Amino acid sequence: MKLIHVVGARPNFMKAAPVYRALHACPSVQQQIVHTGQHYDANMSDIFFQQLSIPAPDINLQVGSGSHAQQTAEIISRFEAVVLNEKPDIVLVYGDVNSTVAAALVCAKLGVKIAHVEAGLRSFDRTMPEEINRLVTDQLADILFTPSEDGDRNLVREGVPASKIHMVGNVMIDTLIRMLPEAEKQIPTGLPSCYILVTLHRPSNVDDVDWLTAAHAMLSEVAREIPVIFPIHPRTRQRLNNVVKQEANSDGIRLLEPLSYLEFLGMQAHATALVTDSGGIQEETTYLGIPCITLRENTERPVTVDVGTNILVGRDLGRVRETIAQTLAGNLKRGSIPPLWDGHAAERIAKILTQ
Ligand code: UD1
Repeated sequence: MKLIHVVGARPNFMKAAPVYRALHACPSVQQQIVHTGQHYDANMSDIFFQQLSIPAPDINLQVGSGSHAQQTAEIISRFEAVVLNEKPDIVLVYGDVNSTVAAALVCAKLGVKIAHVEAGLRSFDRTMPEEINRLVTDQLADILFTPSEDGDRNLVREGVPASKIHMVGNVMIDTLIRMLPEAEKQIPTGLPSCYILVTLHRPSNVDDVDWLTAAHAMLSEVAREIPVIFPIHPRTRQRLNNVVKQEANSDGIRLLEPLSYLEFLGMQAHATALVTDSGGIQEETTYLGIPCITLRENTERPVTVDVGTNILVGRDLGRVRETIAQTLAGNLKRGSIPPLWDGHAAERIAKILTQ
């Protein structure tokens, strides 16, 4: 069986790594990795391949940045040529980024089977580009691997036959479990014993200049009580430069370049709390048992709220401040680990694919 993994953006890499490893143990499977080039900075891409021991991509489409239409269209056009040339039996797509939906569209039109890893997640918010990517990809996929039961329910409601749906658990947690001991060894020296770790990159937050200005001011206030460490996504860096018109470290917030997987995982594991609008971090903090304050109105990962440590505060910065204060006072949200987030999701995927 010839199989192509399509990856493009940072959160794809830690999801594909365990699936690649699990399939590597299957002699009947020939694997290729196609990187769309959606993320291209060394610290948004290459470092993840090195740390996660994923082989260098066989093909890099080098699409780079652009509007959603441009980026998606470039991937479609360049990936079609790859599929025609390589003739895979199946293409694996991950998560909800533009690379995911673009590759799925190509395969659907060429009659190549699609497996979607992390299927079924829904925020029910179609203003999020990722929600559109999830809806379309799941309608096109032939095999849908879900991380949690809510995913199965969403897919059945949308008319996906139950025979195509497999709840396998969370591949991102496979990677976390495998890499955590190594991450512990790479904790940067000089890290404070308590700190709030922040990530923000969602356009609905960081493209709103007034909100970003207010969020920056709120974090500066928090930084008077507890160190605030903020590794900055390139999009946020561009926006923040307009907002604060200076290197913002002066406001007590420690701004860092985007961190590698191991550095960030180590920092997460020791943080007092996370403040984020990321998807994957909601899951990682739930596994680690660290409070996660999510600056979004909704989440496609409700299990992290119902079972895990995630608290949705919307874009209400007052609530963020309050929730941090409660956490510092020892009133933390405790949670447990969702079913099948056990480090073996990718093995289940490999078994189903090879059967
Ligand atoms: C994408 C995903 C988002 C995911 C995020 C993780 C979509 C629709 N969004 O958003 O779901 O959570 O990745 O990071 O696919 N840039 C660089 N260097 C890079 C990559 C990006 O400078 O290596 C800058 C560019 O200015 C680019 C901007 O960041 O325009 C945004 O990148 P893009 O890939 O369009 O989306 P993300 O915001 O990263």
